[in-house]
Amino acid sequence: MTERRLPSDPKPHFRAHLFLCTNRRPPGHPIGSCFDRGAMELAEAMRNIFKDMNLDDSRANTSGCLGRCDKGPVMVVYPEGVWYAPRTPADVEEVLKTHLAGNGRVTRLLVPADPPPAE
Ligand code: FES
Repeated sequence: MTERRLPSDPKPHFRAHLFLCTNRRPPGHPIGSCFDRGAMELAEAMRNIFKDMNLDDSRANTSGCLGRCDKGPVMVVYPEGVWYAPRTPADVEEVLKTHLAGNGRVTRLLVPADPPPAE
């Protein structure tokens, strides 16, 4: 990913921002949604764990569709642009503590980049 900040941009307000998709689609929708795959339980864990961590330089938020529905539930950490597919509250806790607080990576939960479209 290319650095897109300009020297004239204001300093970032947060060092890192984590988003967890909780998007919900109507029952029977062919794509399904992170909501249908358990995202709300993960979101509650995220809120509670993040609050206890007291990380003043970061944020953890729920979001609408992040565009990777087939991998869901998904979460992404910016500015790194690193994607995770947590399945349990313990997975969420591991990402928060390892990546957000420690700048490590939870390799077993990483979502690889999609292959480029065929030409
Ligand atoms: S519904 Fe979660 S990424 Fe699309």
